[in-house]
Amino acid sequence: MSQKTPKTAELHDEVARLRAELDEANYRYYVLDDPTLTDEDYDRRLRRLQELESQHPDLVTPDSPTQRVGAAPAEGFPEVQHAVPMLSLDNAFNEEEIAAFVKRVNERLERNDDDLAFCCEPKLDGLAVSLVYEQGVLISGATRGDGRTGEGITSNLRTLRSIPLKLRGDSIPQLIEVRGEVYMRHSGFETLNARAREEGSKVFANPRNAAAGSLRQLDPRITAQRPLEFCAYQVARIDDDEVAMAHSAYMARLREFGFRTHPELALVEGSAALLEYCRRLGEKRDHLDYDIDGAVIKVDDLRLQRELGFVARAPRWAIAYKFPAQEQTTRLKDVEFQVGRTGAITPVARLEPVTVAGALVSNATLHNQDEIARLGVMIGDRVVIRRAGDVIPQVVRVMEDERPDDARVIEFPMHCPVCGSEVERVEGEAVVRCPAGLFCAAQRKEAIKHFASRRALDIDGLGTKLIDQLVEREWVKTPAGLFHLGAEELAELPRLGKKSADNLIAALEKSRHTTLPRFIYALGIREVGEATAGNLARHFGTLEALMRAELVDLEAVEDVGPVVAAHVYNFFQEQHNRETVDQLIDAGVQWEETEVSVRPQPLIGQTWVLTGTLESMTRDEGRARLQALGAKVSGSVSKRTAGVVAGPGAGSKLAKAEELNVEVLDEEAFLTRLAGWESGDGEKGEAS
Ligand code: IVH
Repeated sequence: MSQKTPKTAELHDEVARLRAELDEANYRYYVLDDPTLTDEDYDRRLRRLQELESQHPDLVTPDSPTQRVGAAPAEGFPEVQHAVPMLSLDNAFNEEEIAAFVKRVNERLERNDDDLAFCCEPKLDGLAVSLVYEQGVLISGATRGDGRTGEGITSNLRTLRSIPLKLRGDSIPQLIEVRGEVYMRHSGFETLNARAREEGSKVFANPRNAAAGSLRQLDPRITAQRPLEFCAYQVARIDDDEVAMAHSAYMARLREFGFRTHPELALVEGSAALLEYCRRLGEKRDHLDYDIDGAVIKVDDLRLQRELGFVARAPRWAIAYKFPAQEQTTRLKDVEFQVGRTGAITPVARLEPVTVAGALVSNATLHNQDEIARLGVMIGDRVVIRRAGDVIPQVVRVMEDERPDDARVIEFPMHCPVCGSEVERVEGEAVVRCPAGLFCAAQRKEAIKHFASRRALDIDGLGTKLIDQLVEREWVKTPAGLFHLGAEELAELPRLGKKSADNLIAALEKSRHTTLPRFIYALGIREVGEATAGNLARHFGTLEALMRAELVDLEAVEDVGPVVAAHVYNFFQEQHNRETVDQLIDAGVQWEETEVSVRPQPLIGQTWVLTGTLESMTRDEGRARLQALGAKVSGSVSKRTAGVVAGPGAGSKLAKAEELNVEVLDEEAFLTRLAGWESGDGEKGEAS
């Protein structure tokens, strides 16, 4: 055996350090929701470790972070017998059924007071898997299968960065079997499907199917590319000296071992608190980035769990409270084509109204022509509609067996349904566009709506219906036309009295004084959102400089790649766009010059949250000032949040900040801090 020379000692140290850093990064990201490394830094370390291990194969260990995607494609999946069967849960569909469950449990335990402790968790809509660790090392992972026998998918599960290959900490049990759900977030699902739509490959109906399809790949390299996550919800077996007395205590230990458990997990006492938890979770459901189909309610005390035992295939100590389904069937009455701001023509399904997960749905998007072909959908068909979270309702499937005889093929228009221009389909793009720009009334309306919107010129009182009328009467043809409207003229419009007309004129007057970032954003250049508009303004300082910029100059701007650069460049090459800009300036639209990035940006890399009301400025102004200092401004508080500015009326965000120990500033402290940052001599923003 070779002696450890100083050189190899150094090598061992570096390998050990890289592994520790990568494991720590996963733990911070998945378990604590508090990332420390950027993706880039993570990848750099991983590549370095791969390089060292390929030069010195004897250093490779099975729990090395490089070994997540080590295995060759499998021929099939081996059968795995579950040492403890994986059971299912009984369901409760309403509050009465939850109350009946609590009553049953209390009666069986001969308890008279309604103060039993329940551990409540969201019921993630994914796939159950079971993981076995021996001496702290992951040795096997399997699907639920029929509950007794599942499929061994260890190589695939190893690719999930939220599944520890090796448990953390020093009190590692000799053996532990951890169960939980593998799922996909909406954001990851949307990206995956968008890519599949572009490539013409398989589109998944929902995140659950996408997770299932991704886990059952014979080639783990494919699974590794899918955005899957694992969240633990049960210890099925443990061989350990430390015996926990409660389910919630085991969940805490799982977090110490490096597992993610559910952030919404809560311990409640008695049926009133339990029902309150279920209601609150139901309200949150639409705002989560992943699908949950209910809550799982478990008696927390493990002794009591044992006492209650099981009936058939489900425990007596737990129940699943199911929310209303996110999928429903209805009939596709017709398809209409909408022209968006950039001319993209989107087919919209007109449906027989149906309630899906608590909301009445009568329209759903069909995305584009390829999607219609993929679904094979016809007018008159019965279709499955899905509404999940904040995502717009989708048609996911057609019930072809029920197709009526008079079903009609959906014809994609050859001409713009609004202006009649011949449509264009760009090679390699799935979208069909009307090329007419502001000559097309639909695009004109959308452009003006965008121009007047809150984050753009913020013209108060200029709503959608009013803009539709102004464009239809041809009183306004471009955004600049808005500034030539007169109060008398406006007062003639139906349902718009003299007072509203005067208010609108005043709002227009006020909106003339804007900022360069808002102005750039308001122009509605493709793919130029608020953040990009801000970057462009700070980079170029003046509109003239931006309009003169060449592609290379544009690509030098933070977060601007070749595609966005080309959109900006092409926009200003168009004669009519330059004319619109001139007309706006002639109409008196003005802003203070933005200084070219010599302004201090002490908040780069920090995320701030504003909540409640501020007295000295609107929240939008506060947000803009933070952004000008380099901060990102977010709508939700996490451990990553650098600070929260809370005014009167702040609610759950403030509570969350306090719970997570995130710094909270009141308005006065915020103003002092702002003044310091903006003058450049203030301290750096704290927490990074
Ligand atoms: S506990 C014996 N907790 O729901 C109890 N299950 O019908 C075992 N599920 O197949 C399950 N989230 O995949 C439990 N927080 C959670 C859950 C959860 C989702 C799924 C699980 C299981 C099904 C039970």
